[in-house]
Amino acid sequence: MNGAIELPGDKSISHRYAMLAALAQGTSELRHFSAAADCHSTLACLRALGAEVKLERDAVSVTGCGARGLKSSWRALDAGNSGTTMRLLAGILAGQNFSSKLTGDESLQKRPMKRVIAPLREMGADIHGREDNFAPLEIRGKRLQAIDYQMPMASAQVKSAVLLAGLFAEGVTCVTEPARTRDHTELALEEFGAKVEKSGRRICLHPLSGENGSGKLTAKSLDVPGDLSSAVFFIAAASLFLDSNVLLHSVGLNPTRTAILDVFAEMGASIQIVNLKSAQGEIIGDLAVKGSLLRGGVIAGERIPLVIDELPMLAVLGPYTEEGIEIRDAAELRVKESDRIAALAENLRRMGAKVEERPDGLKVEGRSAGKLRGAEIDPHGDHRIAMAFAVAGLAAEGNTVIRDSECAGVSFPGFYSELNRLAER
Ligand code: S3P
Repeated sequence: MNGAIELPGDKSISHRYAMLAALAQGTSELRHFSAAADCHSTLACLRALGAEVKLERDAVSVTGCGARGLKSSWRALDAGNSGTTMRLLAGILAGQNFSSKLTGDESLQKRPMKRVIAPLREMGADIHGREDNFAPLEIRGKRLQAIDYQMPMASAQVKSAVLLAGLFAEGVTCVTEPARTRDHTELALEEFGAKVEKSGRRICLHPLSGENGSGKLTAKSLDVPGDLSSAVFFIAAASLFLDSNVLLHSVGLNPTRTAILDVFAEMGASIQIVNLKSAQGEIIGDLAVKGSLLRGGVIAGERIPLVIDELPMLAVLGPYTEEGIEIRDAAELRVKESDRIAALAENLRRMGAKVEERPDGLKVEGRSAGKLRGAEIDPHGDHRIAMAFAVAGLAAEGNTVIRDSECAGVSFPGFYSELNRLAER
């Protein structure tokens, strides 16, 4: 693997900037906005709610409606495959003075929504889903009350839904997380002018109106950092071949996302961070990756929420490591875009790996269990499964075919051509 690559804009940050821009007064310019289908689902929903959205290559300009200016959409808002779109918008819509319906694709309609329905109801929201847990969600906007929420699971999406609802609530809304999760919502809220207070794992947000409120959000001109979760497929691919030399430009290095770099370093990967700078509370740097012999190891505990999206790639690296990879405490993987534990175990086995599947993770044997063979992979419509196995296929014996490979576009359109461009054969 050789060459330089620029990643798509960070998916999590793109969603948040777009939503807050839609609530702000004035026109925000969001440069290097994510090309991910997920973020474009967010833009389509915001358009249907009255924001003006213009695209020019990877720059998006959003003219907001002001904090109280969103309008009801006559048709259901379609979040596509995107859990972030659905859960975060549910928070915003709960506090509007109109009703909304939020729906999504087959995968999203199977993912749990009770985790946002419950705290939003505590705030006074009128929100209903199929079996009280699944999309489509019917949300009748209400006057909300602030809550002090002890979040039962470490989820950035749940935290964000509550904080975004808090913008429209009476009183100061607080969320305490059981373990650290990505903090892009807090940073973006501050950037757009909301008042946020953080102390350890507790985050408090002042509503826009009321005594201490800022009254409004202000339009911003912002650069979205490259997506580290997408970069990981290239870090993994480069690590697999000893004479690789890959430079990843302008990657987001927010400390709530970089635990994956620590995991790689502990496994013996060669990653150098260069050209660090900060932008709008986020940190950006270039990563220089060389090939190395990976040791493998155990990933568990409080680290899991910080590397949750990178676990598929790590698991698939297992057979190429000395000791194999073991993942524990990661039952959340079963309710992502697919049941990722099952999809990983199934496809690793198809390639000849030795895998033990567990309720909350899996154990993948290392190199001594034998080389991987190319195989036909079924990603179950899950972008990260498709991309992880494409990387594994590069180093396997024989050809690998990924069924329904275009699902990678959910987070990384152009992934295969970039992988091809950097792969020297
Ligand atoms: C995300 C948070 C994570 C992550 C998802 C994006 C976000 O989900 O898996 O891909 O942008 O907030 P949870 O917060 O549900 O763990």
